[in-house]
Amino acid sequence: MSLSAPTAASLQGASSDLTSNTRPDVRLEVSGGRRLSGELRVSGAKNSALVLMTASLLSRDTLRLRNVPPLTDITAMGEILAALGVRVTRSGETLDLDGETIIQAAPPYELVNTLRASFFCIGPLLARMGTAQVPLPGGCQIGSRPVVEHVKGLKTLGATVTIEHGVVTASLPGGARRLSGGHIHLDCPSVGATETLMMAAVLAEGETVIDNAALEPEVVDLAGLLIAMGARIQGAGTPTITISGVARLHGADYAVIPDRIEAGTLLLAAAITRSTLKVGSIIPEHLGAVLTKLEEAGCTLQPEGDGLLISASSIRALDLRTMPFPGFPTDLQAPFMSLLATADGIGTSLVVETIFENRLQHVAELQRMGASIRLQGNTACIEGVPRLSAAPVRGTDLRASAAMVLAGLAAEGTTTVRGLEFLDRGYAGLEHKLNAVGACIRRISDAA
Ligand code: EPZ
Repeated sequence: MSLSAPTAASLQGASSDLTSNTRPDVRLEVSGGRRLSGELRVSGAKNSALVLMTASLLSRDTLRLRNVPPLTDITAMGEILAALGVRVTRSGETLDLDGETIIQAAPPYELVNTLRASFFCIGPLLARMGTAQVPLPGGCQIGSRPVVEHVKGLKTLGATVTIEHGVVTASLPGGARRLSGGHIHLDCPSVGATETLMMAAVLAEGETVIDNAALEPEVVDLAGLLIAMGARIQGAGTPTITISGVARLHGADYAVIPDRIEAGTLLLAAAITRSTLKVGSIIPEHLGAVLTKLEEAGCTLQPEGDGLLISASSIRALDLRTMPFPGFPTDLQAPFMSLLATADGIGTSLVVETIFENRLQHVAELQRMGASIRLQGNTACIEGVPRLSAAPVRGTDLRASAAMVLAGLAAEGTTTVRGLEFLDRGYAGLEHKLNAVGACIRRISDAA
């Protein structure tokens, strides 16, 4: 039975059965060897929308977010905020989040457990309610994902923090009505820690400085929203962010930035099929290192309207190393590896994953498709092959699933991709978008 990918309406209507557990029998059948042509548009950024939604906990007024992608992770975050008392309404790609009444400061474990980003709620909840109990997010497929920097930073802002039975409890010391500003130095430029601590500090008494802050565009987008809500923040996008606390924040109407990781994935779809394609709604500065690597691989890129026109005829081998922004994003390491597995001519590519300790599981699946890849610790050594061959493969995490779809586009035959419970968390109707420019991808399930 052919199924349509989750859309805004279906997520709104049927979120309960499609939140973060797209049924395991659901799979994609990707017919390979077709050129793509035409125009695609990038949706709003998952990793920005998720954290911007948690900012609704900081104000009694309503927050309107536009350009919010129809993803299962967004629905999950909406359910977590609703459990805390936020009234969440959605109309198409616009979300209204009314945080007038927060009824509790402890998001339910069963909801938090499905979504790591929900841990970011600890910052705004503590700032607003003076206390927060949030389950530890724990590790995931790609690594241990500690929250040491988040906790250390909250303590620097004067909170008492304990971790018992898998729950982090942060509260203001006796008698204090607000957090107090402080100087936080992050041992690593963690995106989540920077965002969580920025949200905690905006309502603190006095000034907070976050040193070695993350520079990612999603951090800058969050600062943009908080400033639109009345916060006083300087230096977002630089290693040192300064926040002068205010007594309260008001509502805002704000548009989420385009998803740079989805943009990179769609550009790679053109490259791996040796096609010419227009990808709209791209902010090139958000993709600097990726565009450089695409050009190094032999693609041509031209600005066109609010996006880029990419053309590829042959692909060269190259080396890449994942790094915090503005370095090459770890979230595009797997999709880019699919491209390098099809590199033409002689030459070896080296891909080094430096951010997450367990983010090379897609290598075994690409090898199943005939890719020539040798692994050495966190380094993959790749020789391009003339043609990948279709096989049944499984995406082991969100970006690995996207890498499998890309490999399927280039492979000989029809590739069956499983692991859509991951794909649907971060890509809004990927197969619809690709089919609209000439791909042939069907979503299949065994259900009668
Ligand atoms: C965000 O995760 C993104 N998720 C991830 O995207 C992305 O891969 C990551 O940033 C890096 O760019 C969201 O925004 C929801 P980090 P986050 O804290 O904030 C270590 C995707 O595919 N670290 O910057 O959890 C950590 O172990 C997802 O969309 C500590 O050591 O990432 C990792 O090695 C996957 N101690 C590195 O820092 C800490 O206290 C980067 O993690 C915190 C982090």
